[in-house]
Amino acid sequence: MIHKSTIDAVFDTARLEEVIGDFVQLKKSGANFKGLSPFTDERSPSFMVSPVKQIWKDFSSGKGGNVVAFLMEHEHFSYPEAIRYLAKKYNIEIEETEQNDEQKAAASARESMYLVSAYAVSFFEESMWETTQGKAIGLSYFKERGFSEETIRFFQLGYSPDTWSALTDAAQKAGYQLDFLEKTGLSIVKEDKKFDRFKGRVMFPIHSMSGRVLGFGGRILTQDKKAAKYMNSPESEIYNKSKVLYGLYQAKQTIAKEDTCYLVEGYTDVIQMYQRGVKNVVSSSGTALTPEQIRLIGRLTKNITVLFDGDPAGLRASLRGIDLILEAGMNVRVCMFPEGEDPDSFARENSFEEVRDFLINNAKDFIQFKAALLVDEAAQDPLKKAETIREMVQSIAKIPDRIKQEVYVKSCASLMQISEEVLFATLAQVSQKKVNKPLRQVSSQPMSVVPQEKKVAAVSTRFELEKDIIKILLLHGHEEVEFEEPILKTDEKSGELSLVTSKITARVFEKIYLDLQQDEIAFSTAVFKGLYPKVLAALNEKAAIQMDAFVANLEPNLALEVSDLLLEDELHTLHDWERKNIYIKNKKANLARWVHEVILRFRCQLIDEKVAALQSDTAEDIDSHHRELLEEIVQYHKLKTVLSGRLNRVV
Ligand code: CTP
Ligand code: MN
Repeated sequence: MIHKSTIDAVFDTARLEEVIGDFVQLKKSGANFKGLSPFTDERSPSFMVSPVKQIWKDFSSGKGGNVVAFLMEHEHFSYPEAIRYLAKKYNIEIEETEQNDEQKAAASARESMYLVSAYAVSFFEESMWETTQGKAIGLSYFKERGFSEETIRFFQLGYSPDTWSALTDAAQKAGYQLDFLEKTGLSIVKEDKKFDRFKGRVMFPIHSMSGRVLGFGGRILTQDKKAAKYMNSPESEIYNKSKVLYGLYQAKQTIAKEDTCYLVEGYTDVIQMYQRGVKNVVSSSGTALTPEQIRLIGRLTKNITVLFDGDPAGLRASLRGIDLILEAGMNVRVCMFPEGEDPDSFARENSFEEVRDFLINNAKDFIQFKAALLVDEAAQDPLKKAETIREMVQSIAKIPDRIKQEVYVKSCASLMQISEEVLFATLAQVSQKKVNKPLRQVSSQPMSVVPQEKKVAAVSTRFELEKDIIKILLLHGHEEVEFEEPILKTDEKSGELSLVTSKITARVFEKIYLDLQQDEIAFSTAVFKGLYPKVLAALNEKAAIQMDAFVANLEPNLALEVSDLLLEDELHTLHDWERKNIYIKNKKANLARWVHEVILRFRCQLIDEKVAALQSDTAEDIDSHHRELLEEIVQYHKLKTVLSGRLNRVV
């Protein structure tokens, strides 16, 4: 554990603008710095850094926070990793909290294992690039496979010389202890003899998410039938293969940026895809996918696409991995390559555009995928069909989100031509059985503010306003609140507009309904148009909306929207503790203001729309109505000024 004093020293010393400056080109802009968002592909800068407040905000992705939050978002460090990174950058000595001798020994043993692994990487690289044997055997092998020198260097590939103890000898000579060579599995020690485990193989270093080398995969180059094609580092204190994904270190940035992760089977699949330009690829390196590996991906994206070879021997077994992903609450798609192809060969033979289009066109959701498998196997076999349906329902039961479950049941019903009732009944049965098992949820990172709505930039004000109204109705529609009712008055002599305020007590949904009706406001977004009367009807009937029953009776697209809105609110309250506090403190007063503001903003928006319409009219029809129209526009502007005044906003 890092001592509190070190953490304090780090926060005292670290300058946010310097730390971010290592990753983003920042330009001074008033008191702040500005730059292009490192989280999206934008052209004009919306990324702000405040050196005074030591906080940053990315307006294009909605992310923001302090210096540690930046490193966690950008480098995908854990909290301690971020602190260590900063300590190193600012030459701060890391003080560990009191450890007993045993803990100290374990920590320094681990550290020594990392160091000797790092040494091995450079030894293997040098052996490949700098020796005759290495160039003739190792380097030429990788080149034959189509890897460029740049790619080979990027993945730090290497060659382990074909002599008994080249690495072991060199490492010992360089001062590394045999003990740690053995513990990492690089050397095998038998009595007084020592051997290199990876003798004569080409080497693939396996990195942790933050870039430390944990272990190796080594591929044999001869046709020896007895020896395994790939040899991997044994499990050790630093290498736990169920917690590592090959390529994750290299792919993490792109995974987060593209919000998708491709999962393949082998080292060469990852490298070839990466070289072709599909950089968000990782591999579980021949082992079955584990929950820990899924959690690693879950730090970056909730979307995984599993890529299967064209002739998958153990396809059925790999399907279990899909259930694990579903169970983690993540979205899974599946893509099967043409017969005889794997991601390696396919990426090698096709252009980036072809690979990209293939992935887009062939990735299916798991229900479609299982259905397609059945069609291939024996669609006419009723027993087989029943078995497949049962498997589908079992997969659906793994999904923690009820609404998603329901959507999938419907899709399964129509694909497999079976009634929804039967599927729901089966689902209930299956779910009953696993009710005692805790749901595995992928945790999101602490410390950073999760963006409420990824699509913010793209959506219109009107959409946002409509969404807000539906959200208020869902969450607080039944509550009774005291509203300040502004009444617009026109002075009869001067014609000036002014506001008079009176207080009324009303239920939130009544107030909203009446205000919108008064202004003849209709929703323009289909899904909100659909939801609005339903929410009102439910509120009119009962005190508060019984959310589960309400959602169960909605069409799937409406149900999804409702769940998104509710989850969004949940995220908001979970992460934005500051606002949450304020919110709880004077919830009622805030609610009235919230409702009020949304309606006022809606009115301003309508005025804008109206003025825009009038202005296009004036352009066409200058003579006849010119004066009238201009006057109307002026009136609207006045109205808007008054309304905006209420919102404390400058027009
Ligand atoms: N693997 C392993 N041990 C083996 C065979 C395979 O650890 N004896 C792992 C490796 O991580 C390998 C992955 O399983 O990358 C996929 O195996 P396979 O498809 O046989 O390997 P490829 O990556 O296709 O290897 P290559 O193209 O080099 O033959
Ligand atoms: Mn292969």
